Amino acid sequence: MIDTTQLAEPGSPEEMLLRRIDFERMPRHLAVIMDGNGRWARGRGLPRVEGHRAGVKSVREIVETAARLELEVLTLYAFSVENWKRPRFEVWTLMNLLKDYLYRELQTLLDNDIRLRVIGRWRELDNSVVKALEVALEATEHCQGMCFNIALNYSGRCEIEDACRRIVADWAVGKQVDIDPETIGRYLYTAGQPDPDLLIRTSGEMRLSNFLLWQIAYSEIWVTPTNWPDFRRPHLYQAIVDFQTRDRRFGGVKTDSNDLLTAKRQR
Ligand code: FPP
Repeated sequence: MIDTTQLAEPGSPEEMLLRRIDFERMPRHLAVIMDGNGRWARGRGLPRVEGHRAGVKSVREIVETAARLELEVLTLYAFSVENWKRPRFEVWTLMNLLKDYLYRELQTLLDNDIRLRVIGRWRELDNSVVKALEVALEATEHCQGMCFNIALNYSGRCEIEDACRRIVADWAVGKQVDIDPETIGRYLYTAGQPDPDLLIRTSGEMRLSNFLLWQIAYSEIWVTPTNWPDFRRPHLYQAIVDFQTRDRRFGGVKTDSNDLLTAKRQR
């Protein structure tokens, strides 16, 4: 049973939005492309890294809120394989913000029974980042609540490439491996998790940016003009309310009694 008292100020506009959410039809997996940190900073005459620093506050709020909403999985896109093209200082700051987040937020993750998982080629990151991640992964291993995936040094194409390599390696040692969507899914970084039902992208860009390319085949996409550092609980509630109005057919059709009558008449 979701405790809504911790999710909105009584009588606030966010409480009105929260009331519109049907807790029986929640997305199981929410994925987020956090975008617009640089623009947020530029708009305030600040260096880009200040946008990332401010973005950590949104990360904190959304992780905690998603856990309280009892989502099964939350995936945040924090650093892509392509992000290495950014200035060295920006990359260095991002890595330090991540380490700092892990250090400061570990207790909150534990208090909310959140299990951390990292997806991407994260073991190629700086040793100090890998160590910080390993500590947090081990500490939250026993947690039974929401699974929080951080996508780091991540690329959807690399994920599929890595899955193919592992399939071939298993096949080469004589394991029975079929090539079908279920098998491929078992070799992805997100193995065992449901595919995202809802994908949120902030800052108005209409791109997938190499994120979860296999898994988002049937995700509902919600794009907001809000930059990530301004993204707060009400934006998340609005996205969920909107998601619940979508007619998800997964390539099928909705069986409508009128359609059946027409089909019978035409026979
Ligand atoms: C995109 O904005 C954002 C990123 C590449 C990094 C996101 C990282 C954080 C929010 C902080 C660290 C993460 C965690 C999990 C603690 P952008 O810089 O591309 O924005 P722009 O398109 O406006 O330039």
